[in-house]
Amino acid sequence: MAEIKCVDLCKTYLQGDAEVRALDHVTLDIEPASFICLSGPSGSGKTTLLNAIGGLDELDSGAISIDGERVDRLDGGALADLRLRHIGFVFQSYNLIPVLSARENVEFVMQVQGLPARERSQKARDILREVGLEGMEDRRPAQLSGGQQQRVAVARAIVSQPKLVLADEPTANLDSTSADQLMRLFRDLNDTHGVTFMIATHDERVMRYAKRLIRMQDGKVIGDDLQRPIDR
Ligand SMILES: Nc1ncnc2c1ncn2[C@@H]1O[C@H](COP(=O)(O)OP(=O)(O)O)[C@@H](O)[C@H]1O
Ligand SMILES: [Mg+2]
Repeated sequence: MAEIKCVDLCKTYLQGDAEVRALDHVTLDIEPASFICLSGPSGSGKTTLLNAIGGLDELDSGAISIDGERVDRLDGGALADLRLRHIGFVFQSYNLIPVLSARENVEFVMQVQGLPARERSQKARDILREVGLEGMEDRRPAQLSGGQQQRVAVARAIVSQPKLVLADEPTANLDSTSADQLMRLFRDLNDTHGVTFMIATHDERVMRYAKRLIRMQDGKVIGDDLQRPIDR
């Protein structure tokens, strides 16, 4: 249900002697239970914005708050705690641990959170069923298709019921059927649990699911429109 406020975010990278403005005075208000796609050409600042909101990267200036808490002022420990408890990350590459089974990959975060083994195991099974992977709990990533691996990564991201999911090009390595399934799963979580989603994507098909479409270019927000999303 996270509400996010971004005020005048700036981030510059040095590339050789040139300064690149990855975020150039970005201001955004994101309401609780939003379902947002962030679009724009490669290099427009989408990843930088998601990483800043998730506290993975520092800003040069500006303020970000999630439910009133200033993310940009938290120290490393408090940030790690915020991410562990309230934010789910989904990346283009699934970032699964190859030697662990699907269930163990999902349990990993809960283990770090200190949940008892029985509870972890039950929650992992439940969430894997919810993402359509019943019966595949014991397979390792190499024994699953790309779409299935991405669903394990999603299960891991949502198992602790985060209030915010940040997804960076989550369908980039998926065929169109898997991409549609993933977007329907995201929308279902948004519609039934009010999880806020911010999804960076180039994919026109993915954008059709968005309730709000934010366009970026050269580190700036150049478009911000509500739209009627396609039905799940
Ligand atoms: N670690 C980095 N070092 C130098 N430049 C970077 C770094 N990360 C991103 N950039 C630059 O910042 C700009 C925005 O990048 P990014 O946020 O990754 O855009 P997008 O995700 O929309 O493709 C690009 O010009 C990119 O080259
Ligand atoms: Mg990117």
